[in-house]
Amino acid sequence: MQQTISSPRQLSGQLRVPSDRSITVRGALLGSIAQGACRIEGYLDSDDTRAAIQIMRQLGVSIEQDQRALTVHGRGLRGLRPADAALHCDSSGTTMRLLAGLLAGQSFNSVLDGSAQLRKRPMRRISEPLNQMGARITDTQGGAPLHIAGAALRGIHYTLPVASAQVKSALLLAALYAEGDTMITEPVVTRDHTERLMAAMGAQVERRTSGDDGTGGVIHATPPAHGLHAVDLCVPADFSSAAFFLVAGCIHPQARLRLTGVGLNPTRTGLLDALEAMGAQVAVEARAVDAGGEPVGDLIASSSALRGITVSGERVARMIDEFPIFAVAATQAQGTTVVRDAEELRVKESNRIDGLVEELRKMGARIDATPDGFIVEGPTRLRSAVVDGRGDHRMAMALAVAALAADGRTVITGAECVSKTYPGFFDDLASLCPEAVS
Ligand code: S3P
Repeated sequence: MQQTISSPRQLSGQLRVPSDRSITVRGALLGSIAQGACRIEGYLDSDDTRAAIQIMRQLGVSIEQDQRALTVHGRGLRGLRPADAALHCDSSGTTMRLLAGLLAGQSFNSVLDGSAQLRKRPMRRISEPLNQMGARITDTQGGAPLHIAGAALRGIHYTLPVASAQVKSALLLAALYAEGDTMITEPVVTRDHTERLMAAMGAQVERRTSGDDGTGGVIHATPPAHGLHAVDLCVPADFSSAAFFLVAGCIHPQARLRLTGVGLNPTRTGLLDALEAMGAQVAVEARAVDAGGEPVGDLIASSSALRGITVSGERVARMIDEFPIFAVAATQAQGTTVVRDAEELRVKESNRIDGLVEELRKMGARIDATPDGFIVEGPTRLRSAVVDGRGDHRMAMALAVAALAADGRTVITGAECVSKTYPGFFDDLASLCPEAVS
């Protein structure tokens, strides 16, 4: 599918972007092993979450689904049943990595597989520490398919070599089945939705040293004596989906957008800090804490005069999914923007460093790759081009926002990949500015 986007004269209005993918996947997995029914209100319905829901059904869990909510009938820690076929994670790295942790300590065997894109992504980062816990996971040249033989696990103390919430979460899920405590040292703080949800379900999960300064800490998990209890969740709008409109509002010359009910967990909002440092006109209103213990609020973004900044160190993990759209913002900022310490971008749904450089250059951007990030000189008046989403939802959406600030009509090929996390992205864009989308 291809989409043609041009710059509207004005960009204004209000949106509630779709719900959080990370929280929905965690709700489906943890709800499945809780005792009792979890109602997950306002869950995300997208390719990634469908894969997770389908797999939990294959493992014997009854999940009711209507437009408003998922009801996951948890079977308790030991209630999952072996599947009669491989579990297909589609292109969802979160589903595959978290499930590997959940399945490692079961009394049955499983096979986790996925799309050609997911098969290329690194899995040794989870099989290795899980095997240290006593798991018996065989990967395929470092990737999927993963063959998991059920095993008895023991707690370990593991220091994450890469800042990864998926690896941390896999270990925390395995820790529920381990003999003894598990301690995970993370070099910098990564998203903590797993810790929050496990704690809300009664598990003992604590950050023992403070990560308030962003320098990480030790997460200490004790296996629950009496299982996890069911909780009801209300999933906020996904900050990572709101990010596209946040930047659109800042870089378009006649813009004011309000994004409502957005998850503002501080482990996710590094882009907000970065935009503020660039001089963006972004305000946060209606702050609250939702039923799942996650902070939420409305974001208001207006046309801004941005200046270039450097992003490195701990902030990288707090905005790890936002670099495609951040690069677009940087093309409109005065001066030099530098991203460092972000080599992980090379192993996301696509190699986002090389992809950004190649696609944004087609639109006239001055951007160079470095081994661990990129450098952008701005501002540039972008021009229309034929650009490709590269099978990567966040690349396709970032390029669409770049097109909103470009001369002429930009064609985005492979635009269907937005359905991984934001199936209605182009419809939402058209609701704000119908003349820009065709
Ligand atoms: C995610 C963690 C991050 C992020 C991904 C979702 C999660 O991946 O990029 O989109 O839900 O835990 P890493 O853990 O590989 O950094």
